[in-house]
Amino acid sequence: MNIRKLNRDEKPPMELLLLADPSEVIVQEYVNRGECFVAESEQEIFGVYVLIPTRPKTVELVNIAVAESYRGKGIGKQLVDSAIQKAKAGGFKTIEIGTGNSSIGQLVLYQKCGFRIIGVDLDFFLRHYPEEIYENGIHCRDMIRLSQDL
Ligand code: COA
Repeated sequence: MNIRKLNRDEKPPMELLLLADPSEVIVQEYVNRGECFVAESEQEIFGVYVLIPTRPKTVELVNIAVAESYRGKGIGKQLVDSAIQKAKAGGFKTIEIGTGNSSIGQLVLYQKCGFRIIGVDLDFFLRHYPEEIYENGIHCRDMIRLSQDL
């Protein structure tokens, strides 16, 4: 598996990006603002993440996704580790990530990769998404904010 930056003339893998965020408008905005990285093997792209500079020396990891049939094999962890390395190499001092209060697996993965919970953006998903989101039988309402010093 190879993880590389998407070239400017390549189309971002929208289908994969939408697995991490149901809003096409928000995904498109992230892709325009940030740098998109893909995981591929034999020219098949099955993983993606986007890094967006937010504040001075701070970058946010957004839209991390692995194609459903490739999950549970450690690719998500490799993508998070890759994002941390790219952020370090880019001179950033802090990397942040946000996920839903109902995203149990993601909260496990990010904390295993060294992120700590630093806050909760209450009602974030109620304010920004028109449709109700349920995962693991839990109503997704709040965004859990996580961060890691680099
Ligand atoms: N309970 C306990 N541990 C869990 C878990 C759960 N419900 N779900 C995942 N994990 C653990 C795994 O056991 C693994 O840890 P380990 O390597 O120590 O065993 C770790 O989390 C990550 O597994 P990994 O195989 O590297 O992840 P993946 O390739 O399946 O990808 C996602 C993870 C989140 C990227 C993938 O599920 C995905 O694309 N989801 C849809 C998009 C999405 O929600 N993106 C995030 C938006 S915030």
